[in-house]
Amino acid sequence: MESKYMINSNGSSGMASVFPMKRKMEPMKEQNSIKKPNYFPPKQQQQQQQQYKNVMKKNTIEQDRKALPVYNCRQRILKEVEANDTLLIMGETGSGKTTQIPQFLLQAGYATNGIIGITQPRRVAAITIAKRVAQELSSNVGDTVGYTVRFEDTTTERTRIRYLTDGILLREAIGDRLLRKYSAIMLDEAHERTVNADVLFGIVKEAQQERRKHKMPKLKLIITSATMDIDHFGQYFKVKGMYLEGRTHPVRVMHSKEPQDDYIHAALVTLFDIHRHEPINHDVLIFLTGQEEIEALAQQIRQLARINNSGPSDVRVFTLYAQLAQGKQLECFLPVPANTRKIVLATNIAETSITIPGIRCVIDCGYVKEKSFNPGTGLDTLKTVRISQAQAWQRSGRAGRDAPGKCYRTYTKTHMEKFRAAAQPEILRANLTSTVLQLLALGIDCSSFDFIDPPQPEGVQSAYKALEQLAAIKAAATPPAITSTGRLMAQFPLDPRYAKLLLAAPSFGCMEEMLSLVAALSSDNVFIGHADKSELAALAHAKFQSKHGDHLTLLTVFATFQKTDKPKVWCHDNFLNIRNLNYARNVRNQLLEISNRIGLASNSCGDNLDAVKKCLLTGLFDNIATLQKEGHYLTLSGRVKAKIHPSSVLHGKYKPQCILFSEMVQTEHNFLRQVTEISIEWLEEVLPNMKFNIK
Ligand code: CDP
Ligand code: MG
Repeated sequence: MESKYMINSNGSSGMASVFPMKRKMEPMKEQNSIKKPNYFPPKQQQQQQQQYKNVMKKNTIEQDRKALPVYNCRQRILKEVEANDTLLIMGETGSGKTTQIPQFLLQAGYATNGIIGITQPRRVAAITIAKRVAQELSSNVGDTVGYTVRFEDTTTERTRIRYLTDGILLREAIGDRLLRKYSAIMLDEAHERTVNADVLFGIVKEAQQERRKHKMPKLKLIITSATMDIDHFGQYFKVKGMYLEGRTHPVRVMHSKEPQDDYIHAALVTLFDIHRHEPINHDVLIFLTGQEEIEALAQQIRQLARINNSGPSDVRVFTLYAQLAQGKQLECFLPVPANTRKIVLATNIAETSITIPGIRCVIDCGYVKEKSFNPGTGLDTLKTVRISQAQAWQRSGRAGRDAPGKCYRTYTKTHMEKFRAAAQPEILRANLTSTVLQLLALGIDCSSFDFIDPPQPEGVQSAYKALEQLAAIKAAATPPAITSTGRLMAQFPLDPRYAKLLLAAPSFGCMEEMLSLVAALSSDNVFIGHADKSELAALAHAKFQSKHGDHLTLLTVFATFQKTDKPKVWCHDNFLNIRNLNYARNVRNQLLEISNRIGLASNSCGDNLDAVKKCLLTGLFDNIATLQKEGHYLTLSGRVKAKIHPSSVLHGKYKPQCILFSEMVQTEHNFLRQVTEISIEWLEEVLPNMKFNIK
């Protein structure tokens, strides 16, 4: 990228003119505004800007709340909730659904005999929103408002409003299918259609009916979303929907005239073009696909802003993605100094769950990372795919929340016409192993469960097969019977394959090691690869490298971290991410607690690291690949061709005959991430009942 592109060292604006121009945007006439041109008079706009600047002040927060569209509908919503047990509410992103509706319910007394639970598809949203609502109520997280996400619970007995991920609520349902703790549940962001949310629709609907049947206190249910197929949901829940009048401004949408093969570059050029031409207080939101490209581009923008002499002071770059540390996630909500442009690089998290104030320009790369499962190969893959048309419109709408805005799409109009109309529900493409196990632990048979859209039979069969291989179920019976191992596995908030590793570890003598490894694998990347200090970082990381591969390297890092008495300095010196390591430490404690509770023996294998590697096979037996004559790898299950990912410690070294990997990522090639060398003879020893197609 650098080579294609020169920067005027003397000047402010060189970029777009020096760069071989590909980015030609044309306004789209027929779609040049998002509906409902609902201009605010300029005076009111100024007031809003001012309000936003003082966002931290309590009285302003109060005014902000009252200005939200949802506020005018307060009485109507409460009347509908009173009259109906289930309510569908559709309203533009940023209209106040997630933060305000629970407070309306609280004030109206719906939290006296139980608590109000609001589910979110993502941790970040649950956390940031709980913090915001606590602030609005002038209290602290953990008092009236709290959040619960995997491995972190801030709620107390005082908590009346609880934000939680849909995965957590599903887990709670295993303990109590009637969800007795709750008097009201809001299933938020319903349009995202995550597998967990889809399952919850059925569980919550059933809990509501059962409670009615047994004359127990009512469970009020609110389903909210920004864009929702109201007919489909309406039919399923047998209720009518309610539409909240939104407050959006027109957005001028521009498409790239020619296809762009490098959307990151296109986004960068567009950004600097905006920076030259648009007023400095027009903030920019760039939609990208994931952490790596977001951090790389952020770094590049910061550097270019410095070189370009426009001074680092006039742009502030923020990043926002699910794995980002909590404190960092909140930064983009804060006001920036005057004469400074806020630039936020985000994943689709900023599409609907989170609203960042001040955004006037959106750059949309048109891609999203999607996890999908191929029952044929038995592999989960993370793929960058085209967004849907609905997502494209949702993204462009983010530019028009405060005032009229602009959206630049780095893809052509013709191309967009070929995008899917709406994203496919995750349940139709995801690996269902974990979900099926949870349902079985709940005593639910997938084939008779009341799904809003039932999963594909092949997906369910493939989950049965995987669970049977893990000894979690006996598939011969219909419906399959969950085994005692399966019940133990369902106790862990982990993918069943990883739960299996913990259950198997005591017999391999490596429980201590496996607890650490599974905890570290649950956390996000602990290695910091400073782009400008990459050699130093590589040198620091080399110390931890294990010749066995990435799993044992990670284990060494975590074990050393656990022992150090100055973690902050140590992490800094070794280019390691202290937040992610602290997170892993916390996860380990919780996994240890569950292991103790269910009576797993504690032991350590010391230097006998083969024990850890063998134990890994008990859960990850589908993720084995062998080296082929041609130099690439072929997975044993599914026979998929792949290479070792460049981030692996085994990349570019000698190529082991047989490897085990954590996941496959699909970009231009299939890459195997987190790789460890294993011996092919172990398959027979560790998994004598399994047949492998070894070649
Ligand atoms: O759920 P919905 O998209 O309808 O809106 P919301 O999440 O309830 O957000 C309402 C407003 O609160 C947003 O437009 C933001 O201006 C503000 N907000 C904020 O300033 N900081 C947060 N952490 C969350 C929301
Ligand atoms: Mg919301």
